Amino acid sequence: MCGIISVLSFRDNISKDLISALERLEYRGYDSAGIAYFDENSNLQRIRTVGKVKLLKEVVQKFDIKSNIGIGHTRWATHGKVTEFNAHPHVADGVAIVHNGIIENYQELRNSLISEGYEFESETDTEVVAKLIASNIKSGKDFIEAFKSAISKLSGTFAIVAIYEKEPNLLLGAKKGSPMAVGLSSDKQSCYIASDAVALSTLADELAYLEEGDIVVVRKFDHLSFEIFENGKDKIEREIVPNKVSLNDVAKNGYESFMLKEISEEAMVARRTFERFKYDINLSKYDSVSIVACGTSYYAGLLSKYWIEEIAKVHVDVEIASEFRYRNPVFSKNSLYIFISQSGETIDTLCAMRLVKEAGIKTLALVNVETSSIAREADIVVKTEAGVEIGVASTKAFVAQTLSLLMMCKKDIDIEAIERSINSVLNSQYDFAKMANKLKNSKSLFYIGRGTNYPISLEGALKIKELSYISAEGYPAGEIKHGPIAIIDENVYTIALAPFDNHFEKTISNTQEILARNGKIFLITTENSRELLHGLDKHEKVDSLFLPEIYSLYQPFALTTVIHLLAYNTAKAKGYDVDKPRNLAKSVTVE
Ligand code: M6R
Repeated sequence: MCGIISVLSFRDNISKDLISALERLEYRGYDSAGIAYFDENSNLQRIRTVGKVKLLKEVVQKFDIKSNIGIGHTRWATHGKVTEFNAHPHVADGVAIVHNGIIENYQELRNSLISEGYEFESETDTEVVAKLIASNIKSGKDFIEAFKSAISKLSGTFAIVAIYEKEPNLLLGAKKGSPMAVGLSSDKQSCYIASDAVALSTLADELAYLEEGDIVVVRKFDHLSFEIFENGKDKIEREIVPNKVSLNDVAKNGYESFMLKEISEEAMVARRTFERFKYDINLSKYDSVSIVACGTSYYAGLLSKYWIEEIAKVHVDVEIASEFRYRNPVFSKNSLYIFISQSGETIDTLCAMRLVKEAGIKTLALVNVETSSIAREADIVVKTEAGVEIGVASTKAFVAQTLSLLMMCKKDIDIEAIERSINSVLNSQYDFAKMANKLKNSKSLFYIGRGTNYPISLEGALKIKELSYISAEGYPAGEIKHGPIAIIDENVYTIALAPFDNHFEKTISNTQEILARNGKIFLITTENSRELLHGLDKHEKVDSLFLPEIYSLYQPFALTTVIHLLAYNTAKAKGYDVDKPRNLAKSVTVE
């Protein structure tokens, strides 16, 4: 949530770097964006716009910016509405800062700064940090001391970068709870501090990731250098690692959106996950498995419960991280705790994992970003092989997560069959756009399924919600008559996931119950069930899609691609931005 970038350089065209990094950081938030820099006369300048980075870029391009130092921000609003006043950078007496995270004690700090005579222009928690640094400078501290002292007074989570008009050769950063990386350009002419490797993919080949409490000081003399201080005190060397994010990873490569590119990679991601899976995890040796995650990652966990209990015969609990961490859970020493996160930065999942670690229990993280906080803090890391995922809606990462979980309990996987089934959807002539046109005007819709089709229903409904803003619910097909069926009328669509499997006939009975109440059905099934439908697919209120026959264990993979394409097409039919749905951000680093 919120992306930050900053640069100190021997070059004077830093605004280009700031904007290009902000474009890549936009998946972290896109409510507003802004930059601050020192002009040729060393005066602090600031440009902020409400809305996406594209708008900021248009404004910035109107200026002939010549500057060697600057900071930039793309915002996901927490405190204060989406207005220019609340957009970052925030400034005070020549100090400018950008921030990702939440300052929990901002009200108290704000009151004390107001009593010193400071006036606030925004409703944000961030502005206090700029004023606090400025106040420290006023009281006689140099910029570095003023920064360190301000940071030591903050509680909450933050990645903060600051610049100061009177120190145009210094760039300062601090990290607690929100990610931060620092790196030099390959020609050593520019040094950057940013939220992640994606921001720096074209700018820095090597990076150091800051640890909790670190403060980084970037200096420019006859050359550029950075130093990292543990807890702001002792100098410490952090490992320099290659920036593995390439231009190819962050480009649409001819696709109209990242989401479509990422869905089209689902078969390839399954193959890569299979080939690179090198972990020897024996789930059967545990009394139980507890899986903790949020959103789509949670649904991946829920799907794996069906597999792990059936194949490894181990009891599985799956929990929402934000609930788990606050409900005083009872830990079981011989349980394996698995934390699933694409970004590896989701704060609730991270804090849930810390809770388990504090209880002295080993943790396993299933993460897509190996340099992320969750990956760095877990005892065992299983990396998912989705590659960089930019679309805010998680798609190919779900495939990598679910296949990795299946591989934890089953060694003999027929990857060709999985690949074939996903490709049968990707390369098909199924008219998703036509179906999407029917769905797009629904006020609400249901996804129903039994067995493994139930977690896929939840994932399908989440995707429809987040991209098309249609109220959608995933339900176990057998549960619909226990209340939700009251919603069904001629305006409500139910998408029934009913491939031929052990539950097929029961799910079909549930769709009949919905049809009996005038509901509309979109039936997603397999060719080998055609005969058994006895003409149901010809019913005037039924649309249907027939997948090829698929071994039931692998059906969730093909169905995943179906529900992702359906969500993509529905959002497109409504004219929405599929990569940046409203109100959302990809990396949820606030509670
Ligand atoms: O990075 P994580 O996997 O921890 O993210 C968890 C959720 O925020 C994420 O899956 C979210 O639900 C997606 N936008 C769903 O498409």
